[in-house]
Amino acid sequence: MPTRTSRIIGGLVIVFAAAFPVFLYDRLVAREVLRRQRAAPALSEAIDVYHAAFYAATQRTLPMFWLGLPTIQNPNDVWVTQELISRLKPDFIVETGTWHGGSAVIWAMVQDQVNPTGRVITIDVKKFVDETKLPPIWQKKVDFVLGSSTDPKVVADVARRVGKGRTMILLDSDHRAHHVLAEMRAYAQLVSVGSYLIVQDTDVNGHPVLPGWGPGPMEATTEFLRSDPRFEVDRSQERLMFTMHPGGYLRRVR
Ligand SMILES: C[S@@+](CC[C@H](N)C(=O)[O-])C[C@H]1O[C@@H](n2cnc3c(N)ncnc32)[C@H](O)[C@@H]1O
Repeated sequence: MPTRTSRIIGGLVIVFAAAFPVFLYDRLVAREVLRRQRAAPALSEAIDVYHAAFYAATQRTLPMFWLGLPTIQNPNDVWVTQELISRLKPDFIVETGTWHGGSAVIWAMVQDQVNPTGRVITIDVKKFVDETKLPPIWQKKVDFVLGSSTDPKVVADVARRVGKGRTMILLDSDHRAHHVLAEMRAYAQLVSVGSYLIVQDTDVNGHPVLPGWGPGPMEATTEFLRSDPRFEVDRSQERLMFTMHPGGYLRRVR
C-alpha cells in the first residue's frame, strides 16, 4: 500500500518528467537562435531588410485578411502563437486591441480545437467589429469588451471573467510605452505560471522598424522586466527568425 509521502513523491516525479523535456527543448532552441544570430551577422541584416520591406508592404499597401477580416499579424508570429495555444490549451486568451476581430478569430479557431470550452476575451476602446461579417466561431467563443484596456473597471471585469482559469495574454492595442507598461502591470497577475504574456510589435522604434516612433512596446517590456521577476523573455519563440515581437514572448516562470 503506497504511503501518502510516496504518492506525493510519485506525483512530483511524473510532473517533473512531463515538464523537463519541454523546458530542455526551449533552452536548446533559444541557445541555437542566439548562436545563429552571433555567427551570421549578415543573416541578421538580411532578416532586418526583409522585415522592413514586409512591414512597409503590409502596413501601407497589402492589407492581410483572415476569413475576409482585415488583420495586422505577422504569419510567423501567428504560427508561434498557434503552437503556444496548442501546447498550453488555455482556458482564456485575453487580447487587447480587437480592431476588426481578425486576430481574435484566429486565436479562437486554434483554441477551439484544443480547449472547446475555452474563451477569447478581446478588448477595444472602439467598436470596429461588424457582426454581419464575423464567422460563426465569434458567437461561439469570443467575448468583446468595449473600453480602454487600462481602465480599472475593464481590468476588474476581465479578472472576474478569467478567475483562476489558465490564461494567456496578448497585447496589441496602443503601442506607446506608457500604455503598454500599464497593460503589462494590470494583466501580468492573470497569466498562469508556465503561460505567456505576449507583447506584440516590440519591433517599432528602431527594433528594427519605425525608428522615429518613440518609446514603444520594447521599452515598456525592458522597464517591466526590471521590476517583475515572475517573467522571463523566451527567445526560443523567435526560432522562425523573423518576428515582429522580438523580446516580446514573456513566459511566467514563478
Ligand atoms: C493594431 S490594432 C489591433 C489589430 C488586431 N489585433 C488584429 O491583429 O487584427 C490596435 C487596436 O487597438 C485599439 N486601441 C487603442 N487604444 C486602446 C486602448 N486604450 N484600449 C483598448 N484598445 C485600444 C485600437 O482601437 C485598434 O483597434
